[in-house]
Amino acid sequence: MAPLMFSLRFLFFLSPVLFLMISTQSLAQISCSNDKGNYTTNSTYHTNLNTLLSSLSSPSNNGNGYGFYNSSYGENPDQVYAIGLCRGDATVDSCRGCLNDTAQLLTQSCPNQKEAFGAGDQCNLRYTNRSIHGVMETSPAFRPYNVQNVTSSDVVEFDQELRTLLEDLRGQAAGNGSLRKFAAGTAAAPRFQTIYGSAQCMPDLTEMLCSDCLGTSLGDIPIYFPATQVGGIIVKPSCVLRYEIYRFIDPATVRPLPSPPPPLSSPPPPSTSTGGSKSNRSQTVIIIVVPIVVSVVLIVIFFCICLRVKRTKKKLETRKLLPGGDDTDEIGSAESLQFDLATIRVSTDDFSE
Ligand SMILES: *[C@@H]1O[C@H](CO)[C@@H](O)[C@H](O)[C@H]1NC(C)=O
Ligand SMILES: *[C@@H]1O[C@H](CO)[C@@H](O)[C@H](O)[C@H]1NC(C)=O
Ligand SMILES: *[C@@H]1O[C@H](CO)[C@@H](O)[C@H](O)[C@H]1NC(C)=O
Ligand SMILES: *[C@@H]1O[C@H](CO)[C@@H](O)[C@H](O)[C@H]1NC(C)=O
Ligand SMILES: *[C@@H]1O[C@H](CO)[C@@H](O)[C@H](O)[C@H]1NC(C)=O
Ligand SMILES: *[C@@H]1O[C@H](CO)[C@@H](O)[C@H](O)[C@H]1NC(C)=O
Ligand SMILES: *[C@@H]1O[C@H](CO)[C@@H](O)[C@H](O)[C@H]1NC(C)=O
Repeated sequence: MAPLMFSLRFLFFLSPVLFLMISTQSLAQISCSNDKGNYTTNSTYHTNLNTLLSSLSSPSNNGNGYGFYNSSYGENPDQVYAIGLCRGDATVDSCRGCLNDTAQLLTQSCPNQKEAFGAGDQCNLRYTNRSIHGVMETSPAFRPYNVQNVTSSDVVEFDQELRTLLEDLRGQAAGNGSLRKFAAGTAAAPRFQTIYGSAQCMPDLTEMLCSDCLGTSLGDIPIYFPATQVGGIIVKPSCVLRYEIYRFIDPATVRPLPSPPPPLSSPPPPSTSTGGSKSNRSQTVIIIVVPIVVSVVLIVIFFCICLRVKRTKKKLETRKLLPGGDDTDEIGSAESLQFDLATIRVSTDDFSE
């Protein structure tokens, strides 16, 4: 916080040109919404906001594990919602530090506004009294750019390479899942230069909304930036688009996403972590199906035996009246009973499934 305040105060004494140049590297931008309602000092909304912001940057809060912090505190009409998003390569500590710094800056700069939005170098943070989860918003926007110029004869080629790169990153980020929507890449520019780009959305947006948001930012480039600029960043509540001619993303600290679950229609890959749950499922199937089959077979056998015994009894009763025919018939019926059991055993493959 202290170094940030120092650099902010220091920047006021520098020329606007230098301010823009530095601000693409150590960004600190604030927007207080003056038309979304005010709260009074020490009101319920105020204490709810402070509670929410300190829990957001508390060491025990890791967000969704991929730099996304979404929470809410308090009850209507004083409920406060906050969403924080860290750059794809921000470490847990730098992310938390950035959110903390931005929260302090917001509450100091917007002491009574219910809604505010701010961006630091590695994160952005917004709070408000309305539910903003999954909602795509492109305003307010910050658009600082690098005033260093492209050599004018290279402008067309630079712009072409830049567009291709950013369109590609737009699709990649939007196509990512609900944990993180972030993509970074490079393109070759004239005079052996490299363009570094990144695109990121709030991960609670749909693919379509993410693509839409980044689309508006791509459209902003020719409107808000001079044709010759070599770098810029467009921060909106729902997405961030950036490009530079120097590396600003550290690929080494981009936490890998878990491998996506296999789609239901295609067979799952043989040895992933999802294999465990798959074999669990077939175990469950066996546990349920086998007893059912066995009981059905046993009921059938029981029924057969009952029928046999009844018939034999009847036969015996009728034969007992006739002399000489009793023993053989009893043995014969026992034999046929054994035969029936064996037949059933064979036909049911020893009572197995
Ligand atoms: C947040 O910033 C404040 C003021 O700079 C500091 O006192 C506090 O320790 C920070 N909290 C975290 C979790 O970094
Ligand atoms: C937010 O606050 C404003 C101003 O006080 C109010 O008009 C609006 O209804 C509030 N929104 C919600 C969702 O409570
Ligand atoms: C809220 O406060 C801001 C800044 O103090 C002021 O410009 C704005 O008019 C106020 N809004 C309302 C609705 O009172
Ligand atoms: C807000 O509360 C603090 C501490 O409880 C107190 O020092 C301060 O004077 C209060 N401010 C207002 C405007 O009531
Ligand atoms: C984000 O927070 C809102 C409000 O607390 C909640 O309704 C929503 O389910 C949360 N979403 C995620 C993905 O955490
Ligand atoms: C870049 O070009 C613009 C006009 O094209 C000019 O006004 C500006 O001074 C140039 N910046 C630098 C750093 O040369
Ligand atoms: C998701 O993001 C990664 C970078 O983290 C990127 O390489 C990949 O192509 C993206 N996925 C899709 C479907 O575009």
